[in-house]
Amino acid sequence: MGYQAVYERAKRDPEGFWAEAAQAIDWDRAWERVLDASKPPFYRWFAGAMLNTCYNAVDRHVAAGRGEQAAIIYDSPVTGTQETISYAELQARVARFAGALRDQGVEKGDRVIIYMPMVPEAVIAMLGCARIGAIHSVVFGGFSSRELATRIDDAKPRAIVAGSCGIEPNRVVHYKPLLDEAIELAAHKPERCIVLQRPQEPGALIDGRDVGWAEAMAAATPADCVPVAATDPLYILYTSGTTGQPKGVVRDNGGHAVALHWSMANVYGVKPGEVFWAASDVGWVVGHSYIVYGPLLAGCTSVLYEGKPVGTPDAGAFWRVIEEHGVNVLFTAPTAFRAIKRADPRAELLANYDLAGFRALFLAGERCDPDTLRWAEEILKVPVIDHWWQTETGWAIAANCLGIERLPVKPGSPTVAVPGYDVQVLDEGGHPVAAGDIGRILIKLPMPPGCLPTLWGNDQRFIESYLSAVEGYYLTGDAGYLDEDGYIFVMSRIDDVINVAGHRLSTGSIEGALASHPDVAECAVIGAADELKGELPVGLVVLKAGVARDLAVITKELIALVREEVGPVAAFKHVAIVERLPKTRSGKILRGTMKRIADGSEYRMPATIDDPAILGEIEQALAAIGYAKRG
Ligand code: COA
Ligand code: AMP
Repeated sequence: MGYQAVYERAKRDPEGFWAEAAQAIDWDRAWERVLDASKPPFYRWFAGAMLNTCYNAVDRHVAAGRGEQAAIIYDSPVTGTQETISYAELQARVARFAGALRDQGVEKGDRVIIYMPMVPEAVIAMLGCARIGAIHSVVFGGFSSRELATRIDDAKPRAIVAGSCGIEPNRVVHYKPLLDEAIELAAHKPERCIVLQRPQEPGALIDGRDVGWAEAMAAATPADCVPVAATDPLYILYTSGTTGQPKGVVRDNGGHAVALHWSMANVYGVKPGEVFWAASDVGWVVGHSYIVYGPLLAGCTSVLYEGKPVGTPDAGAFWRVIEEHGVNVLFTAPTAFRAIKRADPRAELLANYDLAGFRALFLAGERCDPDTLRWAEEILKVPVIDHWWQTETGWAIAANCLGIERLPVKPGSPTVAVPGYDVQVLDEGGHPVAAGDIGRILIKLPMPPGCLPTLWGNDQRFIESYLSAVEGYYLTGDAGYLDEDGYIFVMSRIDDVINVAGHRLSTGSIEGALASHPDVAECAVIGAADELKGELPVGLVVLKAGVARDLAVITKELIALVREEVGPVAAFKHVAIVERLPKTRSGKILRGTMKRIADGSEYRMPATIDDPAILGEIEQALAAIGYAKRG
């Protein structure tokens, strides 16, 4: 069946379509309803069914004779280590770690925060939670202790599993001190921390609270898989919203397993036993879905890479990993390819490697610029597929589904809606706009399995953030257009979320950090275009009257403050100190206009602007720090 037929079938009969896909999952109890639509706008897939996600990702493959196959290939150029973990070995280690969690008092429904670098133990910890029905929440290592504290207070974990340190090419990240500081800052105190002591920098354990990973494992008895409801949460993953308070995206067990398993074959065109590599981090949704759950649910081998596209040691790192581990399909963010292109524009290092088994490159996480797409196509000579999704959906909304039918590529477009998603571009009144016209991108409810059922402990915020724009639709937060062939073009965010190197950040949280500086009266943060990272945050800051300190010193303090409060991942390096900020007459800061000025794009004078003269001042201040170049 071609794409159109599969898409139509999923649209005409979603329950039949997903019930058929669900045959690929092992259930402990069958569902009563494929789709429970009795409480709109809340929809639940596979209501009444029971399963265990860890069983489906690990144990059943061992039972089916895949025990000797590699489940995880850990490749860490930053520590000079590699390890291959078979499905049988993974099962043994996950079962034992699940037992260790139990020993620390963790039971079904309890939350466990995982704060770890890209090591196999991070995957084992996630699966260990899933095994006993505990809900994990992985926090990316590039966030500050304050961000970690915010997540601790929201998720209220019984335990935290952490690494003692992370290894970045230029420094060691002190996870353990950051963890201690976060627990200090948080109002909620987890009872236990399990700490993986890495030889590069072991952490100091706190008596009565902390236990070493090795000791906990040695003392534990392996635990069996606990059946949970398909609608029970598997994990919470925090993502940036408009405000500084992150949103706890909830993922369920049943719909997630079905959707991810389906996506491996149909979106990525991958078969059991093949090697899939998502060069991302377990702290992001890409890591959850395509380093851990997707490849393992499908019985593939997943590569876990603790390194960078460049500098570990050079821009040939990706080609080495593909050759050495026989990678069939790679998934990463366009920014990684921009980094490789910048370091090795003619891809000369590629000549040193044999990429014989390599079939396709998938890109997501940010808009894929046509130049990067074409460059990747030219050097790799395999399909390069831009696909669009977000933490909330957990898997692709739009893609060129390689496993169904390869459609013609239109650079700049992640192609068409994936079966299961009814994607529409609507105007402010909720009416479809004409092909080619830009509007807000929405998805008609119900969304397919795998998408968020709600936000953790906050149904109201779920409704307000996503379901209130147009009745019966989910608001993606992106703007763009559909062309006459139904190709989707995702152009920008409609909220104050920015995208830095494929990482989603809230300008609100950076503004919160800047505003906490004693000399700052008010501030705004915009995402200015950047050749490598897509966007970089730029702060526009108004100082309090009478502040006479050296501006260079204040600027340095502000940069350090954002690093401390939000984390290094914000990559906050640029501040413009201005006399005042442009606002509408009702007091709303005109961030969009300032972004256009920073990018050197044409802009229209907003009709509601309070004082048009301010825009000239902003342009000068941005020019002084290297922005606002008309080109
Ligand atoms: N733990 C702690 N700190 C981290 C971290 C982690 N897991 N990951 C990144 N950081 C730090 C970096 O060390 C850097 O700190 P610095 O200011 O001291 O140099 C900062 O956060 C910014 O990191 P990053 O955005 O990774 O920038 P970079 O300049 O180090 O590398 C790229 C640029 C393009 C090579 C890098 O962003 C990359 O590999 N991107 C791949 C895309 C990706 O992973 N996307 C995820 C979604 S698919
Ligand atoms: P995250 O939740 O961190 O995965 O970020 C999701 C956001 O990244 C989306 O809402 C988009 O704004 C952006 N994004 C992800 N993939 C793409 C893509 N292929 N094209 C354009 N934007 C993308």
